[in-house]
Amino acid sequence: MIALGCDHAGFLLMREVKKYLEENKIEYLDFGTDSEESVDYPIYGKKVAEAVVSGECVCGILICGTGIGISIAANKMEGIRAALCHDCFSAQATREHNDANILAMGARVVGGGLAIKIVDTFLNTPFSENEKHIKRIEMIE
Ligand code: RB5
Repeated sequence: MIALGCDHAGFLLMREVKKYLEENKIEYLDFGTDSEESVDYPIYGKKVAEAVVSGECVCGILICGTGIGISIAANKMEGIRAALCHDCFSAQATREHNDANILAMGARVVGGGLAIKIVDTFLNTPFSENEKHIKRIEMIE
């Protein structure tokens, strides 16, 4: 189960992400927002972070205008490693090296085509289980 959250700026791109997940039969929990009406991104960053930390969801996807504010908000929660990615290399590397549990993107930065590739890469790349990366993640915690 994937936790989804966005603000008004991320709403339309999140609709495309949901379409991708549905087409690929990947279950998700949508924590909003549900329109382009202005909202505060920290609310959605927190909801998704809570769903991941509690174990309700295995990972999360967050979208705001830049992806920055919502990833900063999510990263306030202990156990969250939210990675802001606007390219597939970063999405792959952050799974392999950081075991990132939330992908954040900016709808004003990437188009739908690239965003879906980034989501696909993030969801399909396992953590490396490499000792040195485990140690560094423990150091963050
Ligand atoms: C909303 O205008 C915008 O500030 C927000 O989506 C995000 O980019 C913040 O980091």
